[in-house]
Amino acid sequence: MKQIAVIGGGTMGNGIVHVFAQNGYQVSLIDVKPEIIEKALATITKNLDRQITKGVIGEEQKAATLSNIKTYTNIADGVENADLVVEAATENLEIKLNIFRQLDSFAKPGCILASNTSSISITKIGSVTNRPEKVIGMHFMNPVPVMKLVEIIGGYKTDKETLETITTLTKAIGKVPAVTQDYPGFISNRVLIPMINEAILSLEEGVAGVEEIDTIMKLGMAHPMGPLQLADFIGLDVCLAILHVLHDGFKNPKYAPSNLLVNMVTAGDLGVKSGRGFYDYSHGTKDLVVSPKFSR
Ligand code: NAI
Repeated sequence: MKQIAVIGGGTMGNGIVHVFAQNGYQVSLIDVKPEIIEKALATITKNLDRQITKGVIGEEQKAATLSNIKTYTNIADGVENADLVVEAATENLEIKLNIFRQLDSFAKPGCILASNTSSISITKIGSVTNRPEKVIGMHFMNPVPVMKLVEIIGGYKTDKETLETITTLTKAIGKVPAVTQDYPGFISNRVLIPMINEAILSLEEGVAGVEEIDTIMKLGMAHPMGPLQLADFIGLDVCLAILHVLHDGFKNPKYAPSNLLVNMVTAGDLGVKSGRGFYDYSHGTKDLVVSPKFSR
């Protein structure tokens, strides 16, 4: 496996490109928006500089990593020679199905098609292709260059060879694989996202403020980040999309998203990526938001 294509250059896509390129793979970064590609390359450069400052890599490795990346705005050109495609586009079923239909027709026959989806069924994604045995979930964690875990999800038709190839590749890029079945939210988000939703419900009910909720979970449960800060970091739109998948998939009201989360996403307060969520990031720092919506 030499050539890897990554679809989407957003929060996750740029990190996935970074890690593969740093490990010597030729990577095509594909996004429909040229400005996102520019932003992704700037983020990768900034993160490589941070690794240099920390003494993790040298200047030569930075240059080598950047030289392994090519960019495209067109799926057909970007995936032409790929041995593996990792899709990290927007968490929306129709967008993903549309991308996988294209990948199936443009990628070469043996190419493995992986999705970084947080929650969408790998079986459903595989079903729109003529190669469901080669479709798999490769769920990286945010921030990708730092986080060790890759949750690997086998769809109903994913074959053993594909699971083994992706498990081996995960280890080759210095990550730790953990394999799960294809159930809504897999393991990571089935456990994490209801906790985040419960934190938002508690805020909405006025049980405690943003800072208190995050402090309790950070210091009381030894979480590195409180659930509300984590939600901002993941993206509130992504959290909401995952709750919808859990709610629809299990038909259990316990997964219903809180009204506050729905309102914040509708209003465009998506967390770090929009500059404001449960905290305000518009000044380059993490500041508390004074809002009557976050009642006490
Ligand atoms: P994002 O919104 O930051 O980036 C998505 C990118 O996909 C955008 O740049 C958009 O222009 C691009 N895109 C949309 N349609 C496209 C198409 N047809 N072709 C090429 N590019 C297209 O989203 P983010 O957060 O990076 O999420 C990407 C995937 O990773 C989602 O499936 C999400 O559930 C998953 N994920 C997100 C995590 C997070 O912490 N944000 C963690 C783990 C997985």
